[in-house]
Order: sequence, then structure tokens, then C-alpha cells
Amino acid sequence: MKKRIGIAVLGLGWMGQAHSRAALRISSLFPDAEFKPELVVCADVEQSRRDRAVNDFGFARAVAGFEEAVSAKDVDAVWVTAPNMLHVPMIAAAAAAGKAIFSEKPIGGTPAQTVEAYNIAKKHSTPTGVGYNYLWSPLVIHARELIKSGAIGRVTHYRGRFLSMYGSDELGLLTWRFKFAQAGYGVTSDILSHSVSLAHFLVGGISEVTGMKNNTITHRPLPSGAASHYGRGKATDPKGEVENEDFASMLCNFENGATGTFETSRSMVGPESQNAFEVYGTEGSLSWNLEKLNELQFYKREEGVNTGYKTIFGGDRFPFHGAFAPGMANAIGFEDLVAIEDLNFMNALATGTTYTPGFKEAVDVVSVQQALINSWTSRKWEPVVDLTI
Ligand SMILES: NC(=O)c1ccc[n+]([C@@H]2O[C@H](COP(=O)([O-])OP(=O)(O)OC[C@H]3O[C@@H](n4cnc5c(N)ncnc54)[C@H](O)[C@@H]3O)[C@@H](O)[C@H]2O)c1
Repeated sequence: MKKRIGIAVLGLGWMGQAHSRAALRISSLFPDAEFKPELVVCADVEQSRRDRAVNDFGFARAVAGFEEAVSAKDVDAVWVTAPNMLHVPMIAAAAAAGKAIFSEKPIGGTPAQTVEAYNIAKKHSTPTGVGYNYLWSPLVIHARELIKSGAIGRVTHYRGRFLSMYGSDELGLLTWRFKFAQAGYGVTSDILSHSVSLAHFLVGGISEVTGMKNNTITHRPLPSGAASHYGRGKATDPKGEVENEDFASMLCNFENGATGTFETSRSMVGPESQNAFEVYGTEGSLSWNLEKLNELQFYKREEGVNTGYKTIFGGDRFPFHGAFAPGMANAIGFEDLVAIEDLNFMNALATGTTYTPGFKEAVDVVSVQQALINSWTSRKWEPVVDLTI
């Protein structure tokens, strides 16, 4: 018999909705799943979101206070999908109530908060997951397999970037992402974290870094109510200050001797959601870009005339893809990766196994971020120190 997993979702914004939709469709997508998810309770401070939770998503109930949601007897697992600064109090309440926890990245807004969440979960032996959803892209998994099989030889260099346009409009609202008290750090918490998690997944640990940061848009129109991530104000609106970084870049050395470069921005004009990597090896290279989620570029050095990069299209020959679309090159999308990560997280809960990436892997990411932050002031190379120790 399948294990029932009662779900609480804390914050029904972009990611709360994505995870709720994942829970609704997992059973039909993956009939072999070991569990049966049930949307029990949604907590959101906005009445309109609570109404949507019940009317549009089918949650049994919706409440304003997250404490009530996490302590409910019919809840087994809690999804933390609120702004970053709420992650730790929500995790603390859910862990104390004995629930499993899936938290969106980066977990808190600062490296110290991610460590705090890790320590709380450790103390309560809480099963954890963190939302590094791109690790579940079938073609990213294939890239990892190719690297592990030696298809590109010894890895010599990694180039990671996440260039997004979400903050490129100077009339884009001053939502929580731009405020230190609600988001913590800027792009290094928000999207460099995805690039570093991909680098860890594909190449391994990073030993030292040095880098820089910058801000290009210093003031933005103030939002009102539950303003969306992409909301826009007027030139005449009152403005507030942007309190965290728009841009960061970083050089690094990996533990295995490879070198790396990273760039991340929310204010560049052009790249729309360029979460991309190139992995270079002695015998070939691999390249992937979220903007073309269903394509992996593969170059293999050959004897004689080289043929250049070839495109590997996504398809049901790769893990999980066939649940969404059969055959080759029938595309999957962003929320399908969320469904795959939730499938694997809940399968781990149902079978008593450990899910990765969990809170430890989230700390591995912010350990790199902390070294980068240190280099902003020291202006030197900084060692990556495991912040769990
Ligand atoms: N994995 C990814 O690709 C990805 C993408 C986007 C966001 N995220 C992460 O997801 C988290 C949420 O981001 P988002 O873009 O969904 O935000 P959002 O602004 O769209 O939604 C946040 C929601 O939380 C609610 N909220 C605010 N305070 C609350 C409280 N005290 N109790 C309950 N609910 C409350 C808001 O009303 C809103 O509905 C962030 O940590 C972000 O880093 C991850």
C-alpha cells in the first residue's frame, strides 16, 4: 500500500504554486511512486493566496499562520516556499513538530542562517530536501553520467553562469528579493547558489575562491500587497533602496585541480534566464543552458577531422523525461523539474532513504558563498571552509 504523505505548503507564490501543482500531478505522472500525496494545508499571509489554495489547488484548508500549519496532526511533510528570511523560523517550527522538510533554496538569506537550519534539522533528525531543481534536469543527469564515464576525459575547467533579466527594469518593483532584511544577500543567494550546486554536482568540491560584486540599479518603486516577482511600478512612484548585490563573479579552484569561473546577474539586458554551464575536459566538453533546457551540447575529440559540437535532444531515453512526453525531442519544462524533485523527495520519505540534495548540500553551497563574501572585503583568494564543522 502506498504511504500517504500529508503536505503543508508555507507561502503560495511562484514556488509554492509550483510544488503544489507537482503534488497534484505526481500520481498520474509516476504511477509507480511509493506514496500518495495529499494537499492538506497552505499557510499564506495574503487572503487572496489562501483563497486560491482552497479553490484552485484543492488544499483541504488554508491558514494565515505557518505555526498552525506545521503543527497539524494530518501533516507529514512541510514545503518552505516563503521569502528567504522566513525559512529558518519555518524550519525550526516544522522540525520541532517532527515533520519532514523540503525548503526552497538558498535556505535563509545568509550562510549563517543556512547553517542554523542544518543544525536544527540535525538536532531533530529531520529528513530534508533543498530546491536545487536543475540537478533533476534529465540532460544535466546525463551530462553527469558522461563526465563520470570519462567521455570528456579529465575535467580541466568549469564555467558557470546565471544571468537573468528579472531585475533589469529600473521600474521593476522593490520586492523582497532586493531587501536584505527579507532576502539576505542578492544574486549570490538567489541564483549563484544554483550555479554552485550544479558545479558541485558535475565536478565536485570547490577549495578556494576570489570574486567581486556590483550594483547597477540602486533604487526601485515600492510595491504594495502581494506584488509579484515581475511586477512593474511607475516612474512617479515613491522609491526605496536596493540593499543587496545585482551582480557577482568569482574565480575558483576545485578540489580535483580543475579551475572555474562564475558570473551571475539579475540586471543584465539580453540573457533572460541563462542558467548555464560549460564543462571542459581533456577529451571533450559539455554545455547546457536552461534557456534551451531540452538540449545538451557535446563535443568529443576524435581522430582525424573533428566534427564540432553535436546536439543531444532530451527525450524518453533519459531519466524521468518519458513520464511527461514520450519519444525524442518532445520538450519538458521548468515545473517538470519541480515534479521530478518532489517525486524523489517523497519517494525517499516513503522508503526511509536519504534524499540529496538536502540541507548538508545547501551548506556546501553557502560555504562557497561565504568565501566569496570574505573576498569582497579582503580582495584576496579565500579558502572554502565547511561551515558545518
Ligand atoms: N528553485 C527555484 O528555481 C526557485 C525559483 C524561484 C524562487 N525560489 C525560492 O522560493 C522561495 C520563494 O520565492 P517565490 O519566488 O516563490 O516568492 P513569491 O514572492 O512569489 O511568494 C512568496 C509567498 O510567501 C508568502 N508569504 C510571505 N510571508 C509569509 C508568511 N509569514 N507566512 C506564509 N506565507 C508568507 C507571500 O504572500 C507569497 O505568497 C525563495 O526562497 C526563493 O529563493 C526558488
